[in-house]
Amino acid sequence: MSNTAALSQRSDMVVFLNGEFIPADQARVGVMTHALSYGTGCFEGIRGYWNENEQETYIFRAREHFERLKRSCRIMNIELPYTVEDLIEISAELVRRNNLRENCYLRPFAYKADEIIGVRLNDLLDHFSLFAVPMGDYVSTTGLRCGLSSWRRVDDNMIPARAKISGSYVNSALAKTEALQNGFDEAIMLTAEGHVSEGSAENIFLVIGNELVTPPATENILPGITRDTVMKLALHYMGRATKERVIDRTELYCADEIVLTGTGAQIAPVVEVDHRPVGKGVVGPITSEIQELYLKVVRREKVVRGEKNDFEHWCMPCFGSAARYAPVSTQAVTKASGSHNSHSNGHTKVAASRGKAARTAKH
Ligand SMILES: Cc1ncc(COP(=O)(O)O)c(C=O)c1O
Repeated sequence: MSNTAALSQRSDMVVFLNGEFIPADQARVGVMTHALSYGTGCFEGIRGYWNENEQETYIFRAREHFERLKRSCRIMNIELPYTVEDLIEISAELVRRNNLRENCYLRPFAYKADEIIGVRLNDLLDHFSLFAVPMGDYVSTTGLRCGLSSWRRVDDNMIPARAKISGSYVNSALAKTEALQNGFDEAIMLTAEGHVSEGSAENIFLVIGNELVTPPATENILPGITRDTVMKLALHYMGRATKERVIDRTELYCADEIVLTGTGAQIAPVVEVDHRPVGKGVVGPITSEIQELYLKVVRREKVVRGEKNDFEHWCMPCFGSAARYAPVSTQAVTKASGSHNSHSNGHTKVAASRGKAARTAKH
């Protein structure tokens, strides 16, 4: 895509805002918006993968992402007036409307939208936006040099890390900035107790001897969809069960392999931590195998020649005739997939699943 203007300047791109598909340059958020001042929103990052042979964009594990968004909304007291199925269909429709026949990234955002001064979560308007843009690699997938951050990971009783809350990304941004300014590619964060938690926007796995190890969800990590993908693929195709356990800082210095995982980062091998080589200082064999598996699965390619890919259901086709993978039951879905109300201004209204949405959609 040659147009590099900011999304908000583009009339040729469509975004979804409060029940409507509208041109991106008409999507407006007020400067007094609560979430802008206070970080009171939660979001997801979802990838769409282009499969050249099948001429298809597959959205990867949309269901799991929207289930996590629902959980984040519960923690943040945000009412999201769409079912997971609605959200999946709206996402596919957005990819179609933007004709994203390439690798892309979807960003749903549910947020406190009142234009008021006053920090709280109750009795506020909830809005929802979704945009989709082309996207390549977020970090290098050929070998990262990481530094342990002096910033500790937010605790569940401070800003819950298990929810993907916009405000908590200040924690990530501080860590990432420090890492970059110190000459590293990425930060690894410890919990307040000093245990290994995660990267600035990635979960972490260590290969120690013959074991694949990762911190449990209670170590203030975001329970990643890619983390779950890696655990399932390693078990299914490599016969490796991942051990979830508390990891000490110095285990990073002795590990045979380290890998960061995330929707943005994908499968990103770490070759150095705090200037010490990880293993032999090159990408290790287990990491390479996981990386290879992952890149096949996200494009719904065959993993073992001649055998069906057992994880095809993770990939939702957006363009093909079979571009429906979720039970379709709501009004919103019907409208999003064709029989919508097209208004003269080019806007398309999508009904929400519950009454509260009418209130939400007006603002
Ligand atoms: C803080 C943090 N941890 C972990 C992850 C990885 O999560 P996922 O694999 O669901 O993208 C992300 C990515 O969004 C993140 O921001």
